[in-house]
Amino acid sequence: MTATLKDRTVLVVGRGSGIARAVTVAARDAGATVVAAGRHRGGLDDAYRDEPGIVAETVDLTDERSIEALGERLGTVDHVVTTASARARGRLADLDRDDVRRSFDTKVIGPLMLAKHLAPRMPEEGSITLFSGVAAAKIAVGTMAVAITNGAADILARSLALELAPIRVNAISPGVVDSGAWDEFGGQGKSAYFDMISARNPARRIGTATEIADGVLFAMTSPFLTGTTLHIDGGEPLT
Ligand SMILES: NC(=O)c1ccc[n+]([C@@H]2O[C@H](COP(=O)([O-])OP(=O)(O)OC[C@H]3O[C@@H](n4cnc5c(N)ncnc54)[C@H](OP(=O)(O)O)[C@@H]3O)[C@@H](O)[C@H]2O)c1
Repeated sequence: MTATLKDRTVLVVGRGSGIARAVTVAARDAGATVVAAGRHRGGLDDAYRDEPGIVAETVDLTDERSIEALGERLGTVDHVVTTASARARGRLADLDRDDVRRSFDTKVIGPLMLAKHLAPRMPEEGSITLFSGVAAAKIAVGTMAVAITNGAADILARSLALELAPIRVNAISPGVVDSGAWDEFGGQGKSAYFDMISARNPARRIGTATEIADGVLFAMTSPFLTGTTLHIDGGEPLT
């Protein structure tokens, strides 16, 4: 039977826009009180000022003490979702060691520390949802550091699912979504990239943040789902 989010507390780590925002609003609309936590508390306050049932908090996933302090302020939490990422794009020759370390710190070690400090504050029916990404399933030149980070997040979800059982732990692997993450390509570059992905993948379009949020809610409320990665990517790895 599907679990309910009504009167549950859901922590969503990330920014106040993109996929994190879609997850935050969807969980709130499903009846949860949502704590939206990120590095920029002021930005999150602004993002959710007119949204009842959503409160902003502070956390930096590269700082264990910041994670521990968030846990102490929360007291208890039912579900944890971390969307945070610091992707290190580029070909091998251009990869900077600090960027690659930051990518792992944000999407692998930070979520591991979140689990360490928050799982003891969660009920047995709780869940943790990590974020992976299509780069791990569709290897390409230029996204190696993103791919290995996401691959580690997939393994982290499986490892935590075993160690924290019966708390459920899963990962979501989005395909290309216009969340703002591609804005650095510039208007024309982004549009050309989206056209290329849309022409190639079986879904024939890029995804939406809402479609990814639907997957997160499914992961949070499916009592028999644990230790897996949900690929919501338009079938891109098949191409
Ligand atoms: N969009 C896509 O096409 C796509 C594709 C595959 C996978 N994904 C994955 O889906 C997730 C959400 O993607 P998105 O595109 O909506 O967002 P995103 O652009 O990946 O943004 C992630 C946010 O994480 C926050 N963050 C970075 N370092 C942090 C830290 N140390 N502590 C706390 N927060 C930190 C940053 O927000 P602040 O700057 O406000 O701190 C950043 O904007 C990510 O994990 C991403 O890798 C996305």
